[in-house]
Order: sequence, then C-alpha cells, then structure tokens
Amino acid sequence: MDVVTDIQSLQSKVSQWIQEGKSIGFVPTMGYLHEGHVRLMEAAREENDIVILSIFVNPLQFGENEDLDHYPRDEEHDRKTAEQNGVDLVFFPSEDVMYPEPMSMQISVVRRADVLCGRSRPGHFEGVVTVLTKLFNLCRPTRAYFGMKDAQQAAVVDALINDFNFPMTLVPVETVREADGLAKSSRNVNLSDEERMEAPALQEALQYGRKLVEEGEKNPDQLIKTTRKFLENKTRGKIDYIELLSYPSLEPLTTIDQQAILAVAVFYDKARLIDNVVFGKQGELIKG
Ligand code: PAJ
Repeated sequence: MDVVTDIQSLQSKVSQWIQEGKSIGFVPTMGYLHEGHVRLMEAAREENDIVILSIFVNPLQFGENEDLDHYPRDEEHDRKTAEQNGVDLVFFPSEDVMYPEPMSMQISVVRRADVLCGRSRPGHFEGVVTVLTKLFNLCRPTRAYFGMKDAQQAAVVDALINDFNFPMTLVPVETVREADGLAKSSRNVNLSDEERMEAPALQEALQYGRKLVEEGEKNPDQLIKTTRKFLENKTRGKIDYIELLSYPSLEPLTTIDQQAILAVAVFYDKARLIDNVVFGKQGELIKG
C-alpha cells in the first residue's frame, strides 16, 4: 500500500492507473477509521481494480464553534486499517498541501443545503463540496463511496457530481451500527458513559417514527411532534433538529406521499450526533 502526502505523487499514480484502463474506487474520509469506513472500503474493493482512501480533516467544513480541535486522530491505526482492507493508496495530505493559499473560488450549494445539518452548520456543505471537488479532480474515481449515515451529504454530493458532470458515480452505503443501534461515528468517543447509554435513542426514535408511517400516519407535523416527544423522554441530549423531508431532493412535504427521510441531530456535551432513516410512502425501510 502506498501512503502519499503530496499532490504530484498522487497524480502520477492516478494517471498511470487511468492509462492502464483501471477502474478507481475512492473513499474520502476524515480518518479515525471505524467499521462504517471499513464498509465503504469493502464495497470499493469489490467493485474496482484500485482503491484510494483519503484522510483529511477538512477545516473548511467546520464552523467556528465546532469540534475541529477535538476531532479525533490516529494515523497509525488508520494506516493499518487501510492496509488490512486492501486499499492500494492512502492520500494523507496536510492542510498546506490541500490549501497552500486561501481559495480564490467558492462553490455555493443552493439546493439541498438549507435544511437539516446545512441549516445548523452554515457553510458546512460549501466546505464539503470544495474539498471533494479537489479530491475528485485529483483521484479521478470511477466510483466514490459515501455512507448513508450522512444522507444529506450523499444527496448534496450526488448533486455536485450531476451538476458539474464529474465522470463518476456515487455509491451510497448503508449505515453501520453498534449492537445497540447507535450509528458508528468517529465522534462517539467524545460521549460520556451516560451519554453513550442514551445515544441509541436517536435510532430508536427514528424507527418509532417510521413505524408510525407504516401504521398510516401521513401528516409530517404530527409525525415530528410524536417522534420528538419519544426522543425527549429517552435522552437528555439537546435536540438540534428533527425533520422530515423528501429524499434525495430534501424538500418539505405537506403529506407523506413519496420517499422521505426522517433525520435527527442531538447535541451532547462534547459531540453532536446525527442519524436518519429513509423510507417509502408506506413507511417501508429503504436501505442505502
Ligand atoms: P467522515 O465523517 O470521516 O466520513 C467518511 C465517510 O464515511 C462518509 O461517506 C460517511 O457517511 C461514512 N460513514 C461514517 N460513519 C458511517 C457509518 N456508521 N456507516 C456507514 N458509513 C459511515 O464525511 C466525511 O468524513 C467528510 O465530510 C468528507 C466526505 C470526507 C469530506 O471532508
């Protein structure tokens, strides 16, 4: 496995692979790799000749009061995990390599971003699409792998790929969970023991909400109200949002008559957790 920290070495490897007609699967991450990331690597390994993993904690997508400084890092563990999962190349750039000087360009995300995490994290998705535009141009992937844990991110990146005609496909991958239902996240290490005990409530509440739809609930407001109450009873975390929207277009719904996402974000002391469930108009679970 190659570990590359500069742009030139990455580009020369990638050009060689493209010349040889190899397909490239790309898994962008911010590191501190866990089984969720591993699932993306496995999917990429199955479907492509070459797998590239990037590890970069992208400052552009963190707001001023967010957890950039507390974002967990473990380079040694990440290298091993990548190696064990058949990654061919890890791109591990420094901030200076990615942003040698302040960007002169900015991409603004005008749809799919004024809701959910985009509303509570202004500028976040601009930061995400900026770094991904650079990474896609550098890695020239055939397919890029994104987790449905960050379903809004997958929807925004899919729009990026379509709007700007990147010659690649986004592959969504189902959320990997702990045994008690908590979505795996690099941020889970920042939960206290007590918060960790309560955190599976996010997924429980979402499944509870989905089942209400299965039982015939069609009214988004009613659904949100009941789900919010359920969640408030199960955790002392502060709810940032609970929202129901169409998926993947992320538009408000007046009645539940199409594929939808029910998504939640909860603030704990040192971590903000997100989770979601996507379902059809009858409440049937839709995976990946
Ligand atoms: P990061 O949070 O490290 O996540 C990298 C990828 O792993 C994302 O596609 C995310 O959805 C996926 N992932 C995280 N937890 C998962 C889980 N429990 N199950 C399945 N997939 C999971 O998302 C980012 O980094 C950044 O925004 C990035 C895309 C790298 C741009 O900086």
